[in-house]
Amino acid sequence: MRAAPALILALALAGCDSPAKVAFADASVTLPDDPAELPEGPGRDAVIENCTACHSPSTMLQQPRVPREKWESIVGKMKKLYKAPIDDAAVHAIVDYMVHVQSQPGTAR
Ligand code: HEC
Repeated sequence: MRAAPALILALALAGCDSPAKVAFADASVTLPDDPAELPEGPGRDAVIENCTACHSPSTMLQQPRVPREKWESIVGKMKKLYKAPIDDAAVHAIVDYMVHVQSQPGTAR
């Protein structure tokens, strides 16, 4: 009987007792330029504080236009599913801002 590839790999790894060495050729990472800024509007600070750690402004601005209820559920999903540390007191302002910004020309798909 042939040994499963995973078993062979496990045996091979077990044989090396020195800790894995990882060398990075370049320790700096250049992030893509994102010149977009969130336009002024009520709740803008709440979005910057609670959303832009994970999403660039242009990502926020390029979302399909959806109604208020959908934004409420999206913010809830960020909290529950992705463990975003969103302040409950800020949810209303975040939703207000996203609805406001999507009502401006050129901000939503
Ligand atoms: C902890 C990181 C994190 C934070 C903070 C965060 N998100 Fe997300 N968000 C994600 C991840 C992960 C996805 C899924 C990305 C994908 O599908 O490519 C996502 C997806 C989305 C999407 C795409 C639609 C969807 O339902 O998946 C929207 C819109 C969105 N986030 C809005 C927000 C808003 C608004 C906030 C602030 C209230 C926020 N996010 C904060 C991690 C985060």
